[in-house]
Amino acid sequence: MTLVINAKSAKLKAEGHDVVDFGAGEPHFPSPLHVKDAGIAAIEADFTKYTQVGGIPELRKAIVERHAKDFGSRYAVDEACFSTGGKQALFNAIQVIVDHGDEVIIPKPYWVSFKDIVQYAGGKCVFVETDESRNFAVSAEMIERAITPRTRAILLNSPNNPSGAVISPFDAQEIARLAHNRGIYMLADECYVYLNFTGVPYSLGSFHEGKEHIIVLGSLSKSYSMTGWRCGYSLAPKPITAAIQKLQSQSTSNPNAIAQKAAIAALNGPQDCVSEFKAEYLMLRDVVLKKIAEIPGLECTRPEGAFYVYPNVSKFLGKGGIKTAMDLSRKLLEEKYVITVPGEAFGTDQHIRISYAVKRADLERGLDRIREFLTAL
Ligand SMILES: Cc1ncc(COP(=O)(O)O)c(C=O)c1O
Repeated sequence: MTLVINAKSAKLKAEGHDVVDFGAGEPHFPSPLHVKDAGIAAIEADFTKYTQVGGIPELRKAIVERHAKDFGSRYAVDEACFSTGGKQALFNAIQVIVDHGDEVIIPKPYWVSFKDIVQYAGGKCVFVETDESRNFAVSAEMIERAITPRTRAILLNSPNNPSGAVISPFDAQEIARLAHNRGIYMLADECYVYLNFTGVPYSLGSFHEGKEHIIVLGSLSKSYSMTGWRCGYSLAPKPITAAIQKLQSQSTSNPNAIAQKAAIAALNGPQDCVSEFKAEYLMLRDVVLKKIAEIPGLECTRPEGAFYVYPNVSKFLGKGGIKTAMDLSRKLLEEKYVITVPGEAFGTDQHIRISYAVKRADLERGLDRIREFLTAL
């Protein structure tokens, strides 16, 4: 689905059209200077050979120390595994945990890859519907209703891609407790954990009760604007981490050595970039919400994290030959040169996702075009 949109937008760009891209799920900032310098220094020092599969000890130490400092967690170095992006960390964890016929509970809307990765492991996704009435929040009761004897894991993503919803620490703790009591693993995709606007950032990894069942998947991609370096990690009980490393050793082996040095610089170096990026996203979130509020019929929850808004477009479906969110995204691209991602990609068919990790001027220009398009329907 997203590939169709990407192909179309590439064609329009090649034809010279001014395409505004709200589709990309990545920061618009360059990687921080000290991170880039560490990468260059690694090459110059010939740090270009194989390393330990789960990352060099200095890096694993940096991961657990950063996490402890920021969230109060208590992980040992051999409970951390560095991977080629948060996506590989997630993939590894799911392959290790989920077997054929196992069920994995996933709240909807979900990040595109969750479903495919679970299915690749032979697992079955059991979706839990969330909606705007509770700001896409998920609670322990909602999860409990979906548990069966085959439930192996619960996969949570907070702050959420695509909705920007944040699960409250109370709800997260309740869900973790429920999972632990039932012997179910809690997979916490915390790729956006530093982009939490609520003022109370937390990580499931800091919950000490039931830690045997908690697996945290982290990423440096969004917090340090390092998407292309491919830096992610897992924090999990020792036997799980050992299994993850075994799998990684037979697939990619160690993550890129140069990126490991850059990751150490990111984790141990000055953290001002993280708060600067967050402040910019917060400003952009308010811009996008204000612009959306000027479009009659377009309703949107107030995201508490990440850098996406997920407006409900149901009032426009059935107008101007547009039947689905996919049709709407396609027409926005063809007629207004604005890229959005249709909700079908995330398991809901009445929304579109707008990434506001773009320059303010682009955000305003693109939103103006969306307004012109929707008000003319
Ligand atoms: C929810 C979620 N998890 C994981 C990832 C993977 O990030 P990366 O592999 O770049 O660390 C992404 C990237 O968009 C994401 O949105």
